[in-house]
Amino acid sequence: MNLTLEALHLVLPGGHRALAGMLLDVSRGERIAVIGPSGAGKTSLLRVLGTALRPSSGKLAISGVDPWSLPAGALRHLRSRIGLIHQAPPLPPRQRLVTAVLAGRLGAWGFVKGLASLAYPADIDGARAALARLDLADRLFDRCDRLSGGQLQRVGVARVLYQKPDLLLADEPVSSLDPQLADQTVGELHREARARGVTLVASLHAVDLALKWFPRVVGLRDGAVAFDRPPVRVTDAMLRDLYATETPVIPVQGVEPLQRPEPGPRATRRGAPPLCR
Ligand SMILES: Nc1ncnc2c1ncn2[C@@H]1O[C@H](COP(=O)(O)OP(=O)(O)OP(=O)(O)O)[C@@H](O)[C@H]1O
Ligand SMILES: [Mg+2]
Repeated sequence: MNLTLEALHLVLPGGHRALAGMLLDVSRGERIAVIGPSGAGKTSLLRVLGTALRPSSGKLAISGVDPWSLPAGALRHLRSRIGLIHQAPPLPPRQRLVTAVLAGRLGAWGFVKGLASLAYPADIDGARAALARLDLADRLFDRCDRLSGGQLQRVGVARVLYQKPDLLLADEPVSSLDPQLADQTVGELHREARARGVTLVASLHAVDLALKWFPRVVGLRDGAVAFDRPPVRVTDAMLRDLYATETPVIPVQGVEPLQRPEPGPRATRRGAPPLCR
């Protein structure tokens, strides 16, 4: 799916302007990391892209169509093609993992198959395979309330992988994971998006993961785009500016100095020496 946002504003209850003149053009199959300080508008942006929040003004087009101009049935169908990974997935505590993962396809299955699958899981092998990608296959029949926060977060990822959406949105999908699992999980999202040619937009607090895995990095600040460029052209000075009000240290997941991929033939590496945490 391609995405277009032009002069997009989002005013939340209470009058706060969470998005202020957003401008973003995303082609089908692009993989984009959104970074920025707390309150910058990352979650708001993902919720607008997921059609959970309606923009207050400006243009939003998903595959060339304003979702809010669609009739209810067409909007429901569009939503079934969008997968949103939440920072804390809203999973019922008593639900088993197999059911939680299979729920990823409820929108595509329709009412009767979906309801039947709650009692008799329709595709146990599919759910197991999705969980295996997140190292959770052995917990298939466990209840969600027996898992840690990080394990639950990975169930949320497995559910969206199982959904096979055309647009993958991830809001801080690895915030509760240790550095190794975080890297592995972002890698899994990246592989899924690349293999299926689907668009991926992920917000991340860990700048090192954004620079390592994503061909395009968008820095968000005060509800607007501060920079939008490939990782080799994101300098430490730009990162320091972006996070200036939150912390003088750039947030990372791992312990290594920030790495960028090798510059391509047309990209140049600029900026100060790498920062450590
Ligand atoms: N339900 C709400 N009602 C009113 N204001 C809100 C609401 N949710 C978020 N905001 C405000 O909108 C702004 C953007 O919030 P958002 O959650 O998009 O930021 P974020 O970049 O995702 O932050 P974080 O990194 O902390 O998750 C913030 O200033 C926040 O206080
Ligand atoms: Mg957020």
